[in-house]
Amino acid sequence: MKLQIQTKPLVLFILFMALQAPPALYADPDPLQDFCIADLAMTSTPINGFPCKPASNVTASDFIFNGLAEEGNTTNPFGSNVTAANVLAFPGLNTLGVSMNRIDLAPGGLNTPHHHPRATELDIVVKGEVLIGFISSGNVYFSRVLREGQMFVIPKGMIHFEMNVGKEKGLIFAAFNSQLPGTVSTTMALFAAKPALPNEVLTKALQVDESVVELIKSKLTAASS
Ligand SMILES: *[C@@H]1O[C@H](CO)[C@@H](O)[C@H](O)[C@H]1NC(C)=O
Ligand SMILES: *[C@@H]1O[C@H](CO)[C@@H](O)[C@H](O)[C@H]1NC(C)=O
Ligand SMILES: *[C@@H]1O[C@H](CO)[C@@H](O)[C@H](O)[C@H]1NC(C)=O
Repeated sequence: MKLQIQTKPLVLFILFMALQAPPALYADPDPLQDFCIADLAMTSTPINGFPCKPASNVTASDFIFNGLAEEGNTTNPFGSNVTAANVLAFPGLNTLGVSMNRIDLAPGGLNTPHHHPRATELDIVVKGEVLIGFISSGNVYFSRVLREGQMFVIPKGMIHFEMNVGKEKGLIFAAFNSQLPGTVSTTMALFAAKPALPNEVLTKALQVDESVVELIKSKLTAASS
């Protein structure tokens, strides 16, 4: 009986701690005011996000972004183009915890494998036939070919890609629960980082000869320049 009374608070404390999501799983913090149009030029004081421009200077234009209306140029080695409407392009998103991308895909085009460290992504296919897939932390590959109007959710942080498997142009709009989701290209991170990863690391990791690593490094460096 006595032992039970003493352990109860400890058990409750452990339960309480277990129910708290680890900080890495939190979305962007909630805003503390209606809006906070980013003053991107005010970089002298680093904060988590951007300082707001004075509310008296805010107009309707601060809430409008035209950048996603234009088709991206897909004439590049990957046949894809991502136009971002994140806080850097659209300062009106500052503190609101959301953003969008436009993904244009030529037939056969690929938005190469990548992940967003800070956001879950909702892809809605507006045009074309697009193979969308992600790989879970258990190394399970989930994918489907989507057509106009269909939507795919890519859980936060999972490596994923979008590939146009149709004969027409493909168009996707992607929504994120972060004003700046961040993009880490899986292939570029390994083979085109600056400074470059040591070949010893890559030959060991991939179990191939140095010539293979050098070939991929040169191809990806050329493709990204
Ligand atoms: C606010 O607007 C005034 C008048 O147009 C301008 O002089 C000032 O530079 C603006 N301030 C900011 C921080 O945008
Ligand atoms: C994406 O399209 C824009 C607008 O046409 C263009 O300026 C940019 O260079 C393109 N990016 C790539 C990676 O091809
Ligand atoms: C698209 O990009 C390619 C390669 O940079 C360029 O040759 C072409 O003129 C661009 N097309 C348009 C419509 O800007």
